[in-house]
Amino acid sequence: MEEENILETNSLETDNFENNIRPQSLKEYVGQEEITKNLSVFIEASKIRNESLDHVLLYGPPGLGKTTLAHIIANELGVNIKTASGPSIEKSGDLAAILSTLEPGDVLFIDEIHRMPKFIEEILYPAMEDFEMDLVLNTDGKSRNIKIDLPPFTLVGATTRAGDISSPLRDRFGIVSKLQYYTEEELLQIVNRTSRVLAMPIEESAARLIAQRCRKTPRIANRLFKRIRDFALVENVEQISKKLAEDSLKRLKVDDYGLDAIDIEYLTSLITKFNGGPVGVETIATSIGEEVSTVEDVVEPFLLQEGFIKRTPRGRVAENKAYEHLQIDHYTTLF
Ligand SMILES: Nc1ncnc2c1ncn2[C@@H]1O[C@H](COP(=O)(O)OP(=O)(O)OP(=O)(O)O)[C@@H](O)[C@H]1O
Ligand SMILES: [Mg+2]
Repeated sequence: MEEENILETNSLETDNFENNIRPQSLKEYVGQEEITKNLSVFIEASKIRNESLDHVLLYGPPGLGKTTLAHIIANELGVNIKTASGPSIEKSGDLAAILSTLEPGDVLFIDEIHRMPKFIEEILYPAMEDFEMDLVLNTDGKSRNIKIDLPPFTLVGATTRAGDISSPLRDRFGIVSKLQYYTEEELLQIVNRTSRVLAMPIEESAARLIAQRCRKTPRIANRLFKRIRDFALVENVEQISKKLAEDSLKRLKVDDYGLDAIDIEYLTSLITKFNGGPVGVETIATSIGEEVSTVEDVVEPFLLQEGFIKRTPRGRVAENKAYEHLQIDHYTTLF
């Protein structure tokens, strides 16, 4: 049977679900207090000055609320948001088409901004700095440069890989914010909010269980809630109890620490097939049948943050915590 990835984000149904429960204002946005406090000041100041907000770069692991925050910034500014994703901007014309739809003060949200082609990045520089765009027009076999004036706008870029962004691009963002994993109390608030929005009551102890087992990530908390709600519907209960949440999490293969089947496969492979490392990420990814990018962007950040693994120049290494969690004796794997 194919394992289910709780972070799976591709289906339309999932997108609709995420949109429905996405907070719309800074007030509703839980946690990330340092970022939201500063942002609300900068937003307020830009309104008073009647200028566009400085460009904002948001980075951090998947599911922590970057896209949500981009939409909230536009809402709080009271402007439109136009969205694009880095890899989908292939030609200078693609970027020109998006930029030409902007009205003064609008937000242009570019997701996965690290995957934007280099030459597009270079067209973006004058657009970000001077609200100008240089275009090369080819007519009758002759090419000529034209300069287009753009309205002032705010670029909000999001990425899971800040390290992959060139420094000239990064330097053009006036506000750079790293999103952090959430605390249990924050996740509890998010689960309770989702329960209210979806009109599916949940016992406090059950909500806490989800908050403890969601890899400190709101998207996963909401996904788990959604799955458990399915179990509740089928069993015809009106409130999610702790017992129901526990049973459901077991069936979803989410363990006591919140690690899912892929995390466990990763750690088991690292320890049993590669003696705990060091081993290259490509080799581990192949051994568990996952894309390298999934392993690096989705699986590893949490395992690193929680001290299950570490990154060394020679590759990934399992930490004691991984052996303990899997209940594998450190030495048995050496023979
Ligand atoms: N601070 C928050 N408060 C409440 N809910 C949140 C918060 N952050 C995220 N969420 C919920 O988690 C879901 C995922 O968040 P979002 O799509 O913004 O993550 P992301 O950082 O853009 O992820 P990716 O890197 O995969 O694009 C949202 O639909 C939203 O419901
Ligand atoms: Mg996103």
